[in-house]
Amino acid sequence: MSKRENFGSKIGAVFATAGSAVGLGNIWRFPIETGRNGGAAFIIIYIACILLIGIPVMMSEFVIGKHTRSNTAGAYQKLAPGTQWKWVGRLGVFAGVLIFSYYSVVAGWTIEYAWLALSNSFLGKTPDEFGKIFAEFSTDPVRPTLWLIVFILLTHYIIVKGVTKGIERWSNVLMPVLLGIITILVVCSALLPNASEGLNFLLKPDFSKVDGKVVLNAMGQAFFSLSLGLGCLCTYASYFEPQTSISKTAIEVCTIDTLIALMAGFIIFPAAAASGYHLQPNDIGPSLIFITLPNVFQMAFHGLPWVAYIFSVMFYILLILAALTSTISMHEIVTSYMTEEFNLPRKKGAVFETGIAIILGTLCALSFGTLGNVHIFGMTIFDLFDWTVSNFCMPLGGMFISIFTGWYLDKKVFRDELTNYGKHGAPYVRGLVFTLRYITPLAIFLIFLNQFGVFNFA
Ligand code: PFF
Repeated sequence: MSKRENFGSKIGAVFATAGSAVGLGNIWRFPIETGRNGGAAFIIIYIACILLIGIPVMMSEFVIGKHTRSNTAGAYQKLAPGTQWKWVGRLGVFAGVLIFSYYSVVAGWTIEYAWLALSNSFLGKTPDEFGKIFAEFSTDPVRPTLWLIVFILLTHYIIVKGVTKGIERWSNVLMPVLLGIITILVVCSALLPNASEGLNFLLKPDFSKVDGKVVLNAMGQAFFSLSLGLGCLCTYASYFEPQTSISKTAIEVCTIDTLIALMAGFIIFPAAAASGYHLQPNDIGPSLIFITLPNVFQMAFHGLPWVAYIFSVMFYILLILAALTSTISMHEIVTSYMTEEFNLPRKKGAVFETGIAIILGTLCALSFGTLGNVHIFGMTIFDLFDWTVSNFCMPLGGMFISIFTGWYLDKKVFRDELTNYGKHGAPYVRGLVFTLRYITPLAIFLIFLNQFGVFNFA
């Protein structure tokens, strides 16, 4: 078999992993969750979730991947041969197939909207018209499917180039551009009239809004935003160089991800305040970015159509970049699995995943229109995929990963990986093991009980 590739530099590893984390979740969910769940109070809870669940699970995935230098399914077979732990890895690969398929649908929509912004089609539209444009587009049987395929092929193109020349090289270009664009947008938003009113609304702490449900939302958001529980981080860590520090990388990735999510809020809320529009609790997900925001941007820069134009174009390019760095990592979970477990050349492994994603993704894309009547367990195909990944595979995967490293994994392996074989200290190891044994699995278990209605937090 050919030599396994590595990320050639530490910064490449950080950009690639942060690229996976930074995605649509940061932009279309985090700001609104914050706005409606008590502002700074939600941010504090979110950060607590990152410290207690996010960083421990991320470091566990890193240890598993870096130690075994294997795809996520192969990693458990190496660390726990002959046991059932391999199913944790396989669950991740299964979820990887699902998430890549449905996430690419929305990623495809961002290309349509970047095109609409570029061709100045938002100019002079009323709020109702924005709603109609989106309804017509998303239910169309052809265009969303075409954009889906374009997005999948774009991801495929990067994946087949390999780890260093594909994933790393592209992350090193896309992430700095993304950071540049988001910074410019934040500055533009901050200059708007009433910007401080918007920020105030976003950040004012209101602890009275915090209840069990809010804590669960924060946990769910942390999982999705940090790409936890699917073996994606494990796969990427298998390409880390030996000298890459696991704890440093985890902290850097979590910091970048959280900062970008906050910056998305610093773009959206001041723009909404300047436009006189009050964001509603249901302005979340696709309706936020495809109906509310194009309208908000037009109104916020009323009288400055050029600025509105450039701002909108940059915003949709930002979405494309954020989505692309995430879909690359989703694709890689499955490609590395196919290549290593079935001894396929990388190209064939990638073609396999791309083919499945085009088929399943098309079903998801059509579930907004042509296949809208098809319901499984009361959900459309798109919603079913999303539900299975976000509410089932991610928490379940995260729970088993923490139990695996907390209880099963040889603590010498764990310590060796965290200290880079004694090259630096890791005074936090005992606390981390305690968290992984008790706190993380219990917290995730509560999400489950709540989700399946065993008890209700609200
Ligand atoms: N973290 C990405 C986002 O916030 O949009 C989504 C994601 C990427 C989830 C990769 C899972 C994954 F494996």
